[in-house]
Amino acid sequence: MSETEKNGRRLGGRTGKPFTFDFEDGAIEAWPGESVAAALLAADELVLRIAEDGGARGVVCGIGLCWECRCVIDERPNVRACMTEARAGMRVRRQRGLG
Ligand code: FES
Repeated sequence: MSETEKNGRRLGGRTGKPFTFDFEDGAIEAWPGESVAAALLAADELVLRIAEDGGARGVVCGIGLCWECRCVIDERPNVRACMTEARAGMRVRRQRGLG
């Protein structure tokens, strides 16, 4: 994916300096003020958890209502990616099952 394509997925202006956080085995770029979910979507990471039935789940509402985006963040399960501001160095993992 080109830089233009990646940046076109982000809403609004970007200010400050980009940073990275860990997602599974890779580094995800984020900008100050972005949610974990927004940064993951911009990086084309659409599957944020694996449900109890084995199905892939990701962002649905983006406003904290559906809980479909819950991840394990810094070893804490059931954290909504859409309601969590990305921070440099945080560790984000797909949640499998109930966490
Ligand atoms: S996408 Fe619905 S709570 Fe996060």
